[in-house]
Amino acid sequence: MRFDQLPTPCYLVDEALLLQNLKILRGVSDRTGCRILLAQKAFSMYALYPLIGEYLCGTAASGLYEARLGAEEMGGETHIFSPAYRADEFDRITSLCDHIIFNSFSQLERFGAAARKAGRSVGLRVNPECSTQEGHEIYDPCAPNSRLGITRENFLPDRLDGVDGLHFHTLCQQDADALEHTLTAVETQFGPWLHQMKWLNFGGGHHITRAGYNIALLEGCIQRIQRQYSVQVYLEPGEAVALNAGFLVATVLETLRNGIDIAILDTSAACHMPDVLEMPYRPPLQGAGEPGGKRHTYRLGGPTCLAGDIIGDYSFDTPLRPGDRLVFGDMAIYSMVKNNTFNGMGLPAIALRDRNGDCRILRHFGYDDFKMRLS
Ligand SMILES: Cc1ncc(COP(=O)(O)O)c(C=O)c1O
Repeated sequence: MRFDQLPTPCYLVDEALLLQNLKILRGVSDRTGCRILLAQKAFSMYALYPLIGEYLCGTAASGLYEARLGAEEMGGETHIFSPAYRADEFDRITSLCDHIIFNSFSQLERFGAAARKAGRSVGLRVNPECSTQEGHEIYDPCAPNSRLGITRENFLPDRLDGVDGLHFHTLCQQDADALEHTLTAVETQFGPWLHQMKWLNFGGGHHITRAGYNIALLEGCIQRIQRQYSVQVYLEPGEAVALNAGFLVATVLETLRNGIDIAILDTSAACHMPDVLEMPYRPPLQGAGEPGGKRHTYRLGGPTCLAGDIIGDYSFDTPLRPGDRLVFGDMAIYSMVKNNTFNGMGLPAIALRDRNGDCRILRHFGYDDFKMRLS
């Protein structure tokens, strides 16, 4: 199928673009010896897991279902972190995951022995209380009163028996200078116990595949930590794996005017790209400019009832008309993993563009996918 034959709305992931990212990540692990996992919360299109598994060493999960998906579809190492595990799931988790990370000493006490008995490597998530970002408190695990990670105040060095590793996740779309800064905080607070660990997981939020990212600094950080503490370093990026590797193709349904020109699309920010509202951010749109930059500016919105279901304001060379197709960029990550059917919106199809440029629909959704979750 050609690109222009895809039904809309449709997520389209481009294998060649994904591969570019995977090669960059593989380069980092080859040069440093660190191990890189896919954080599935960002991108779980498992049709691509066999390919991703050729370049990364496994998956990171936030719970049982992601752990199962990673173990079944990619294999390699399966790591899991959850702020609190469910007792009724823990046996299954230990059967699937080789690395199990706890968020508190109380969780370690409750589940650690079972994990160790099953031969699993046990870790603790620490919170270095080192915020390196501004304005995104919901993405900052180091914000005051955070529930994520053990702070130095709550860290109990005499209870580290059987703990193999430490984990921190504090970054969001950041460069390696923020990592370097964070590592200083981690070492200042938890350095004395790092020497007794086998591994240190740097979490995600490293925008490694973004143009201009300081890969040399990242690699320097990894190598220094591995040398100084004799630990295996892990990274678990989500965004960086599929950054700019996917699109959301949509169609203009209608245009109208209320003080400004408005276009209603067959895709919704609230349902199909919720991070546009949550983060918030303005996704790139092929061929469009900043508001006022080209002759015709439109506010693009979805067909739901939500007044704020607005993707953003964009300008075009020619007026938009019903039937025009629009292609939003950077739509592989935190899109299909977060979508929903609010207002009975259908879910976008999922398609793949292979390395020859051929497009193939991998999955269609219909009425049953909406209905089955409701009773
Ligand atoms: C524990 C953990 N690891 C990894 C990630 C992936 O982060 P990113 O997709 O920003 O690389 C997240 C994101 O929230 C996370 O919470």
